[in-house]
Amino acid sequence: MTGTGSHNLSPLCSRRGFLKGVAIATAATASGALLAACAGESVVAEASKADIPVGGAIIIDKWIIAQPKKGEFTAYSTSCPHAGGTIDKIEEVNGQAVAICPKHNSHFDLATGDVLSGPSRDPMKSASSVTESGDKVEVKS
Ligand code: FES
Repeated sequence: MTGTGSHNLSPLCSRRGFLKGVAIATAATASGALLAACAGESVVAEASKADIPVGGAIIIDKWIIAQPKKGEFTAYSTSCPHAGGTIDKIEEVNGQAVAICPKHNSHFDLATGDVLSGPSRDPMKSASSVTESGDKVEVKS
């Protein structure tokens, strides 16, 4: 056995690691520099920044695109990590906008993707990257 190794993904391009990097970066140029390291991923959804509410999210093309704080964007698959449901609602619960899967009522945090309540034990699946491009936000998988 030679163990050719198939784990060549840069730490900057890992899903969680990358999004944490974007959350820390406040300048668009810093985000762009990080994204350059992740070439080859395809755009799976895009939206106008103006359509994404601060403190909320929109659902488009099977992706939840959130703006937890002004100028900070995150994105997650609508495929529920619990049992194959589709996360299809963004609602305010106790003063916080959350993503909800109607199949078993799991609630997820829009800033981190983490489970807030419900049977799901796993967080929402993060996009590989979220890029600001002019007036738009592009999601890559
Ligand atoms: S499939 Fe989404 S909460 Fe069960």
